[in-house]
Amino acid sequence: MIKKRDSWGSRLGIIMAVAGSAIGLGNFLRFPAKAAANGGGAFMIPYFVSFLLLGIPLMWVEWTLGRYGGGYGHGTAPGIFHSLWRKNRFIKYFGVIGIFGPLVIFIYYIYIESWTLAYSFFAISGKYSGFSDLAGMKSFLLGFQGLEKNQYFNGLKTAYLFFLATFLLNIVVIYYGIRGGIEKLCKFAMPLLFIFALILMFRVFTLGAPDTLKPDWNVLNGFGFLWNADFSALKSAKIWLEAAGQIFFTLSVGIGVILTYASYLSKGDDVVLSGLTAASTNGFAEVILGASIIIPAAFVFFGPVDMQSIANSGVFNLGFVTMPLVLNKLPLSEFMGFCWFFLLFLAGITSSVSLAQPAVAFLEDEFNITRKKAAAIFGLIAFFLCQPVIFFLGRGVVNELDFWGGTFFLVVFATIEVILFAWVFGMERAWDEIHKGADMRVPKIYKFIIKYVTPLFLFFILGMWLKQEWLPIILMKGVASADRPFVLGTRLGLLFIFLILAILVKIAWSRRGNLGKGLNES
Ligand code: ALA
Repeated sequence: MIKKRDSWGSRLGIIMAVAGSAIGLGNFLRFPAKAAANGGGAFMIPYFVSFLLLGIPLMWVEWTLGRYGGGYGHGTAPGIFHSLWRKNRFIKYFGVIGIFGPLVIFIYYIYIESWTLAYSFFAISGKYSGFSDLAGMKSFLLGFQGLEKNQYFNGLKTAYLFFLATFLLNIVVIYYGIRGGIEKLCKFAMPLLFIFALILMFRVFTLGAPDTLKPDWNVLNGFGFLWNADFSALKSAKIWLEAAGQIFFTLSVGIGVILTYASYLSKGDDVVLSGLTAASTNGFAEVILGASIIIPAAFVFFGPVDMQSIANSGVFNLGFVTMPLVLNKLPLSEFMGFCWFFLLFLAGITSSVSLAQPAVAFLEDEFNITRKKAAAIFGLIAFFLCQPVIFFLGRGVVNELDFWGGTFFLVVFATIEVILFAWVFGMERAWDEIHKGADMRVPKIYKFIIKYVTPLFLFFILGMWLKQEWLPIILMKGVASADRPFVLGTRLGLLFIFLILAILVKIAWSRRGNLGKGLNES
């Protein structure tokens, strides 16, 4: 017997929610920073190739697997993998990554999201309107983050208050469930997000070349920086890795989130068109909106060289230092600043609730806990886990979490998924499963891509990673010696979380076994 699970209210609702999960800080902060740091046009070819060969196929794979697993009452990877390969006793433990990854991303993502809420208030109340140079604005950010003692903030108090508000808001949405919480939030937040993004894009388009002494620093050249292809960069393995990583992060694929969202579909719901719509909406938000705001704006005011060095100096600097400075120089600066940070907040919250969902669904589905209790348990644990991120921010904790939870394991998880789908479940069955209830056919070439190209591409990326990064990462090369205990502590903490999740999977399956064969079959 399969317990009745939550479900989506409408097709538009699910597309909004999946697009909401995908469109996040990754589109408006991470993408421009990566593109700028990797030479603009040099980044875009590997990026588009990765979108076509990894992003789109994995999106379809995850939507299909999620819907399939939901049919057996499973909304997370351990159960879904087990349904696909029942004979293998270990495969469910590989599925742990699909709960671990989003949980790990959640614990740092939500803190950054809370900064965007705080800065929305700072913008509209004119708290940073007096700054006109990089040093001042940077100092303001460091003071807010508690990394520098200065006159702007009294330690971490303000940041912590905004963190609490953001955290609570997320838990409330999760508490109200898929239809009553997440779908409602996304239906309201996504259109608003697009309105703010269009206002900012329009403003950037009309910037021209404000500095008459530097007529080359104009909007058109800003766009040229991103769109003039640079074929010489195709030889650089690093750019391929960065581009593929960005595709995973931005589409929320390889994380486990789409599996869970799709598990609330019903058997006959289309996944082909919906998956494609969500991926294209995210692509639009990234390469049209995301790329048309920060990069040209920063180019016009700082020029190509400084812009690249700002991007290289940290992923947050373009968004929290450069962008407010640019907007400070324009008319209606307070309103424009608010549009920018509130846009980021909406993008962030519609993604963070999706990152929480796999852990909550796991508790609900595998332990028969009510949604409200599951949300409360998740809230307590996640709250506790967020603390090191807040208090040890300058100690390399976020980088470490982003590497394991937000990069490395995404590639590993995506590789397992696509192999299971195309090779264990079998490509013929998989192809039929994709097309159940479909409103359009997937181009046939994707049968070949999903079976051969995507796995090979993923193996290649993993191989390159292992070859280039394995030893330096394990040995913490490049980590300041004062930060090493914190990085090591983070690693041990991650290992501990993984083990606890694996033990929970074991307990859930033993209980299932004890409940009788009928349940065991599901
Ligand atoms: N896909 C989400 C983002 O881009 C996680 O931020």
